[in-house]
Amino acid sequence: MTLPPKVWNQSEFASFVPPRCISYYLACLELNQEEVRRAVIPGRDSNIQGPRDRRDRPLRDLRISVTDRCNFRCTYCMPEEIFGERYQFLPREEILSFEEILRLTRIMVPLGVSKIRITGGEPLLRHDLPRLIQGLRDTPGVEDIALTTNGTLLKYMAGHLHRSGLSRLTISLDSLDPEVFHLMNGGKLDVAKVLEGIETAQGVGFNAIKINCVVQKGVNDHTLVDLARYGRIHGHVVRFIEYMDVGTRNTWDLQQVLSGEEIVARIGESFPLEPLAPNYRGEVARRYQYRDGGGEVGVISSVSQPFCGDCSRVRMTTGGELMTCLFASSGTDLRGPLRKGASDDELGEIIRCIWLAREDRYSEERGDLVQADGEDGLARRGRVEMYQIGG
Ligand code: GTP
Ligand code: 5AD
Ligand code: SF4
Ligand code: SF4
Repeated sequence: MTLPPKVWNQSEFASFVPPRCISYYLACLELNQEEVRRAVIPGRDSNIQGPRDRRDRPLRDLRISVTDRCNFRCTYCMPEEIFGERYQFLPREEILSFEEILRLTRIMVPLGVSKIRITGGEPLLRHDLPRLIQGLRDTPGVEDIALTTNGTLLKYMAGHLHRSGLSRLTISLDSLDPEVFHLMNGGKLDVAKVLEGIETAQGVGFNAIKINCVVQKGVNDHTLVDLARYGRIHGHVVRFIEYMDVGTRNTWDLQQVLSGEEIVARIGESFPLEPLAPNYRGEVARRYQYRDGGGEVGVISSVSQPFCGDCSRVRMTTGGELMTCLFASSGTDLRGPLRKGASDDELGEIIRCIWLAREDRYSEERGDLVQADGEDGLARRGRVEMYQIGG
């Protein structure tokens, strides 16, 4: 039985990582021997898989936020009253460069990462994004590169994105109704612009485009069937997302959540549905197909039917913090050690330790936490904002 490949003493470790990492690291050293054995990085010992967290979940997906800015002001994410003209987004020097992102990605591949999702804010606002995508495509071990966008810049960017090697595209679109759309995105651009972008994307060769719709009861739930119909006509997979209590800037309330089950029932009244098996273990959406062969639709029920058990996602903020849950109150700074000269092995060790110490299952715990602290208490714990980690 051996300990992880490299064991620093505490002062050596403290010279380049922030205190929070040290506590993670020490927590890791307390892990039982079986957990440590499973944690050894492949390549160093080819018989053993990448690290598994304390709930035995492997690391597979890396979601990279490339900007905290957005040209929308969705009421549930960046309400205009808070994110007005004067809001201070991250200054340029605090944003990870493409080279830094690519280096961290390369380091995470041996730990298990094979699937990347580029998010924001609105990722297409990041200058020269196709260059990052090319770099990710050329990274051995990266098998799938997806991007989530609000679609407003797709008309100009779709061709570049496709040529750069982007595998898949997801567009956030909450309603086809111009007024509802406006109401939800803070009165910014028109829905026609997004539809034009989706059409361009399809034209340049993106297949099986996914459309994500956040469902807010009393706001857009009367327009769901129209969106489902649009998906059927154009061959897109529409996924309806239960409104979640992410971040601290919206006025989330359980009363505003339409459950996945209710959503399926509503769509099914117009277009009968039957369940489909997941595409892969841990898929967040529950899939359904239209009985008449009209394609596929999905629901993401993280409030009513949490899926933490198979969660293999890690999120990297624009400023280089690694977050192990969408509802985390804090993350671990990787930019600091990276810019202070930590080696690839040292950075890999920090990330491995973070994963080993991971216990997150917020969506499953939510009910108990509310019982213990009430909704207010829960909000006071603090939570990362959606525009910082992109969903
Ligand atoms: P695919 O690879 O296409 O299956 O992507 P995906 O469905 O995993 O990713 P996507 O970003 O499209 O997820 C859709 C929505 O599901 C997000 O915008 C979030 O609202 C929600 N979601 C995704 N991952 C998580 C998660 O880990 N926890 C919770 N609670 N919600 C998530
Ligand atoms: N609940 C559910 N989904 C959300 N998104 C943003 N905020 C929420 C929320 N509170 C979704 C967006 C987009 C993705 C980035 O996350 O609609 O599809
Ligand atoms: Fe922008 Fe997406 Fe947030 Fe809307 S949900 S404000 S499009 S980052
Ligand atoms: Fe994963 Fe956290 Fe979402 Fe659960 S709540 S699925 S642990 S990101």
